Amino acid sequence: MYDDNVTLLGVKKEIDESKQGEVLYFDQNVSTGRKFYIESYGCAMNFSDSEIVASILAGEGFGPTREMDQADLILVNTCSIREKAEDTVRNRLKIFNSLKTKKPDMMIGVLGCMAERLKSKLMEEEKLVDIVVGPDAYRDLPNLLAKADEGERGINVLLSREETYADISPLRLDSNGIVGFISIMRGCDNMCSFCVVPFTRGRERSRDAYSIVAEATDLYERGFRDITLLGQNVDSYKWSNPEGTEHVNFAQLLERVALVHPDLRVRFSTSHPKDITDEVLHTIAKYENICKYIHLPVQSGNSRILELMNRTYDREWYMERVDSIYRIIPDCTISSDMITGFCTETEEEHQDTLSMIRYAQYSMSYMFFYSERPGTLAAKKLKDDIPEVIKKRRLQEIVDLQVETSLQVNLKDIGKTFKVLIEGDSKRSNLEFKGRNSQNKMINFPKRDGLKAGEYTWVKVISATSGSLRGEIVDQP
Ligand code: SAH
Ligand code: SF4
Ligand code: F3S
Repeated sequence: MYDDNVTLLGVKKEIDESKQGEVLYFDQNVSTGRKFYIESYGCAMNFSDSEIVASILAGEGFGPTREMDQADLILVNTCSIREKAEDTVRNRLKIFNSLKTKKPDMMIGVLGCMAERLKSKLMEEEKLVDIVVGPDAYRDLPNLLAKADEGERGINVLLSREETYADISPLRLDSNGIVGFISIMRGCDNMCSFCVVPFTRGRERSRDAYSIVAEATDLYERGFRDITLLGQNVDSYKWSNPEGTEHVNFAQLLERVALVHPDLRVRFSTSHPKDITDEVLHTIAKYENICKYIHLPVQSGNSRILELMNRTYDREWYMERVDSIYRIIPDCTISSDMITGFCTETEEEHQDTLSMIRYAQYSMSYMFFYSERPGTLAAKKLKDDIPEVIKKRRLQEIVDLQVETSLQVNLKDIGKTFKVLIEGDSKRSNLEFKGRNSQNKMINFPKRDGLKAGEYTWVKVISATSGSLRGEIVDQP
């Protein structure tokens, strides 16, 4: 039932990269002329970057298309997090390349983490790729495209300590006009031993707090009602003004964004268990519009494995953070990421991950089996010694327990009434709406006249599965 990557109850923008990437298109009119087609893989930050790229391309007179064979430029924004993610992109490149042999004027560009990881090697391997651009070099796209027009292949994979694209207003792609994402920082300084991100995204840097609040305000004014602040480790957000007279941490940023408007829901991802502070938890509790939902990846429930992973917390620390969340924000839900079969993991240690699911009562989790990534600390120092069949069996065990736990957690919602932001028609029927509550649970419910997407309503839950809730509209309690 699973591939390399299992997503449960996934309402997050993070995409299962084993599937085809998402094709992005516009919610805004941009000039027609030359056309570009973009597919994105990997995490929400990559999708958010594609919106920056789209904005830069629009400035160059490129318009969007959903049909790759109509494109003058095909871009693929790539992910390197697991081997499978890279395999998927290589398969897509084969398809793009066969298109290019029929239409030689078409340009192909590889963006994102694979571009950064493989650098010029990618050009050697992929003979038909015209440009290779890393995550910090998108401003160079016009220059690289101009050269590619002249037949010169180009690459820019320089990482930056400053680039945050703060001044570029992203073109919202594939958006329903209600739910939006704002990058608040880039890079990661954590060096978890399994992870390629510090190598592909470079050093951590935080974006100007004023530009974040301005973007949130702009989104609110354009009708958006649910925004997610994005970073690999949002809790270490730290920005100072150039004069050094003003310092903003994550709790303070959350508060500033929450104050944009009480009807603007604020979410964030991802929190790191070592950095999430009580100040952040109290801020969440204080504002009704800061969603009561924390994605707090544990990775493993065992302290020895956590140390090998260089996560810099242990099982007890993590449990204490979970206790604090439920104490300070009693109606909060927590979700997680977990990796099975990390180097030297024993059956007993695997049991600790299972027991953590029970302890933390996750509403959902993203679960993976370990995939060694070249250049990471684990690849250099540890042996990837758990056979794949065992990794997969352990993964199946955590998936099964998570499904059961999600169901138990959701069943507790029956009879409760939630404020739900209507996001559109439910998957099943256009007689039903779908929307999420503050706890990030998807609820389907019959429509009522006079209500439309982008508005809030109150819904009483009448039934639940492990993946979603069903309910009916009720008057405000
Ligand atoms: N910054 C986030 C994680 C970003 S990557 C955090 O620290 O939580 C998303 C998830 O991919 C990780 O949480 C981890 O569970 C998984 N992952 C990362 N590297 C992996 C690898 N080498 N093999 C398998 N899963 C991996
Ligand atoms: Fe990777 Fe760890 Fe950084 Fe997350 S915190 S991006 S897992 S290095
Ligand atoms: Fe993948 Fe890069 Fe995100 S490796 S998960 S796209 S930061």
